[in-house]
Amino acid sequence: MKNYIILFFSLFILASCEQNNSNEINIYSKRHYQVDIKQYENFEKATGIKVNVIKSSDDELLERLKNEGKNSPADLFVTVDAGKLQKGVQMGLFQKIKSDIIDSNVSNDLKDINGFWIPITYRARLLVYSNERVDKFDLSTYEDLANDKWRGRLLVRSSSNAYNQALMSSLYANLGEETVTNWSSDVVKNFARDPKGNDRDQVKAIAAGQGDIAIVNSYYIGLLLSSEKQSEVDAGKSVSVFFPNQGDGQRGTHINISGFAMTKNAPNKENAIKLLEYLTGVEAQNTYVNNSYEYPANPKVKPSDLVQSWGDFKRDKLDLNALGTFREKAIKVFDNTGWK
Ligand code: FE2
Repeated sequence: MKNYIILFFSLFILASCEQNNSNEINIYSKRHYQVDIKQYENFEKATGIKVNVIKSSDDELLERLKNEGKNSPADLFVTVDAGKLQKGVQMGLFQKIKSDIIDSNVSNDLKDINGFWIPITYRARLLVYSNERVDKFDLSTYEDLANDKWRGRLLVRSSSNAYNQALMSSLYANLGEETVTNWSSDVVKNFARDPKGNDRDQVKAIAAGQGDIAIVNSYYIGLLLSSEKQSEVDAGKSVSVFFPNQGDGQRGTHINISGFAMTKNAPNKENAIKLLEYLTGVEAQNTYVNNSYEYPANPKVKPSDLVQSWGDFKRDKLDLNALGTFREKAIKVFDNTGWK
């Protein structure tokens, strides 16, 4: 019996040593930005903990986590859409994250009410318009994009894109099926061309005179203006930013977060929490805003100078998990209204 007890405690100590001494973290990442490499290098320098990253699409990574089950080496999953985080929660892949530091670092209205994921940044899916051909006083709401004054002038990427699916999910949750279906039909009539390309391409199309307004994520304007390619800088300069749905009584501009979830069996849980405490802290939050032009999840940090120059805006306070729960319905609206 005594031997068993000794054996038990030896194994216990060995197991806890392994946990405490583990010198790495494994991340499955959908994020595709340069700034992440910088953040992980800074964290590694500060702590000696090595950050390993595997990149793929979020659906592929979630499927991989499901197939690997308990044997998955992944500690964290990071993506750019609360809807995909919510999908992983529904698949039973994550555990709740508990840390007072993270809790005090992050704005309350950006948090997951169920505690499964942590926001690090957020972005607005807003409008940009041609400085030459659009009067900003003609712009108001997402709903107004259905107005026929925009016939042949609207640019947006395809409905297979997660950013658009999240936007449509938010509209569905806020307006209901009938209104959103009518809206989408009219918006499609206003397209300047069939949806193609990414968000940057919509801005370039405005610069080239192919359309006058576009729906894009906020940070792409910062990325274009700071690009090494002159054509991208010129495209960024040809447009201005507009935050829809800001009027009195209006719900605010649709936002989405970039965020992390911890896998159910994270082998390096303590390190993973340390990383999230670091990434939501003031130093790393400043690194995000000044490199990727996203908005900080930590309210103690200000956006980059460029992003601040657009002014403050009211954000839609819809529970961000709705971006996941309404996704299937949103995709049906796209399909039923011919948004390619
Ligand atoms: Fe992006």
